[in-house]
Amino acid sequence: MTAPSQGLVAERVTVRFGGLTAVSNVSLWIRPGELVGLIGPNGAGKTTFFNILSGTIAPTSGTLRIDGREFAGRRPDHFARAGIARTFQTPRVFGPMTVAENVRFGRAFAGRRADHNPQVPGEVDDLLAFVGLRDDAEVEAAAITPARQRLLEIAMALSTRPRLLLLDEVAAGLTEAEVQRMAELIRRCRDELGLAVVWIEHAVGVIMRAVERVIVLHHGELIADGPPGEVVRDAAVVEAYLGAPMEVAP
Ligand SMILES: Nc1ncnc2c1ncn2[C@@H]1O[C@H](COP(=O)(O)OP(=O)(O)OP(=O)(O)O)[C@@H](O)[C@H]1O
Ligand SMILES: [Mg+2]
Repeated sequence: MTAPSQGLVAERVTVRFGGLTAVSNVSLWIRPGELVGLIGPNGAGKTTFFNILSGTIAPTSGTLRIDGREFAGRRPDHFARAGIARTFQTPRVFGPMTVAENVRFGRAFAGRRADHNPQVPGEVDDLLAFVGLRDDAEVEAAAITPARQRLLEIAMALSTRPRLLLLDEVAAGLTEAEVQRMAELIRRCRDELGLAVVWIEHAVGVIMRAVERVIVLHHGELIADGPPGEVVRDAAVVEAYLGAPMEVAP
C-alpha cells in the first residue's frame, strides 16, 4: 500500500539515548479522523514516540511527514502550527492561573493559523463547555480535582484547533466512572470535532473498547498494528504485554 498524502506518516523512525534505543525503526500512518490506541509495557517507547510526533525531541533517524511535508527535527511550534497537539503524561497545568487563563495560554502557543481546524471551537468558553469545565472557568487550576485537571489539559491542547490530538495517559489515576466519561469525551473529539486521536493508556480494556485501531510498542519496536479484536489475540502482544488473550465486546 502507498502511504496516504494526508495525515501523519512515520517511516523507519529510530530514537537512541546514548546506548539505549527507545524507539526502533517504527513505521506507521495516522489518517485524518482515525481514533487509535497506543499501548505497550512501561518503557516501551510510547511517550518518546509522542515526543517525536510533537517536536519535543528529534528522531535519530527516519522520516516524519505531515500532509506530505517533512517535519522530523523541526521545532514544537512548527508541529503545533501543522495541527498537532498533545497532553503530557505528567500533568502540566499552571496551578495559580484560572482554568480559563490556562486555556488562553495554551492557545497562544500555536499562534494564528490560517488552516486551523474549523470544527474545533475558537472561543475559550466554548472549549470549556465542550470538555465539561464551564463552571470552573474562574477557579484556580490548582483547586480543581486531578480528573478535571486532565480535562483542562485536553481543553488546552484543543485550543490550538488541531487536526491530530495526542493523549498520554489522560485516564491514569481516574475512577472507573471518570475513565468512562474520558473515553466518551475522546470519542466526541473525533466524532464532533473531526480530529484524529492517538491515545496512550495502560487500561487495555478501556482502550480496546474505545478505539478502532491499536498500535503496540515493545522495547521500542512496533509489534502489532490493527483492529482491537485482532491485536488482543496476537501472539506477540499476548507474550509481551497482555499475558493472556482478551475478549473485546463488539
Ligand atoms: N530523555 C531521555 N533520556 C534517556 N532515556 C530516556 C529519555 N526518555 C526516555 N528514555 C528511556 O527510553 C525508554 C522509553 O521510555 P518512554 O518514556 O518512551 O516509555 P513509555 O512507553 O512511555 O513508558 P511508560 O508506560 O512507563 O510511560 C525508557 O527506557 C526510558 O527510560
Ligand atoms: Mg510514557
